[in-house]
Amino acid sequence: MEELLEKMKKYLTMKKKPYVSKVAQDLELQEYEVYGLVELLKRQGYLFDILDGKIVKIKPIKENDVYKIPNNLDHLKLLMISDTHLGSKYDRLDILRYLYDKAEDNNINYILHSGDLTEGLSGRPQQMYELKEASYTGQRDYVIDKYPKSDIPTYLIAGNHDLWWVRECGADICRDIANHREDLHYLGSDCEDLKIGKLKIRMYHGTGGGAYAKSYKLQKYLDSIDISERPHILQTGHIHQAFFMKQGKTHCFQTSCLQDLTPYERSKGLPNDKSVWWVDVYMDNNGNVHSITQELETFDKKLVKKYR
Ligand SMILES: [Fe+2]
Repeated sequence: MEELLEKMKKYLTMKKKPYVSKVAQDLELQEYEVYGLVELLKRQGYLFDILDGKIVKIKPIKENDVYKIPNNLDHLKLLMISDTHLGSKYDRLDILRYLYDKAEDNNINYILHSGDLTEGLSGRPQQMYELKEASYTGQRDYVIDKYPKSDIPTYLIAGNHDLWWVRECGADICRDIANHREDLHYLGSDCEDLKIGKLKIRMYHGTGGGAYAKSYKLQKYLDSIDISERPHILQTGHIHQAFFMKQGKTHCFQTSCLQDLTPYERSKGLPNDKSVWWVDVYMDNNGNVHSITQELETFDKKLVKKYR
């Protein structure tokens, strides 16, 4: 059955809105078996449905300010990334490509991006010399074209750099990009809640300058959430420094950046770690979160070789 589900997932990634009859023919199945496989994928959290006889990709549903994704897996694998600053001369598409290939080979279920997808336009004159793309359409099309394409869904929020475009031209660049890419799901700006099965995740970007200690902003932000409202996973961005702590049931992942140190960061003495979190979440028999483990993978200035 697992083999069949894998085959179905791969097939649905390649085809756009195929008819059930066509899927049945291509995969040598009965139509009722295709309906059954789509139902199984839906229960595992894959966002497919059947409409007018066609299998379509759907967006997660937001209820009471929380995006909900079904899940019946007892082991969820996540990749957490942040602050890709695409469109900057210092962006690291090589690392992103490596990560998406590795995520596919390691059967990662979801990739979470906690903001600053694009470099944006700051209004600081010297920033012009740090940009590959200086216009809204330039940065938007760069991401649509170059962001790795994958059958793993990526959920993302906008960070302060992305939101500079709202000030510049009244446009939400992350929404625009996601509207052109079926594998990228835009949740909203700065702070959004996501529930995968019973796993509660808060994604938060943040604003303002650096902190005296790398743990400071994460700790302060966690303190601001009422204990009864706290998620299992808090993923933050913005600081460009990795840090992990666990308080109560909440595993807090400060996710650093995937961008080399910019002249601006150097002149301000701002930190620049390049890393990502690989996270495993284990559920008990009732689908409740049993345990969460994590591994930090770091990068340096060297170009990363292709994973495959
Ligand atoms: Fe950033």
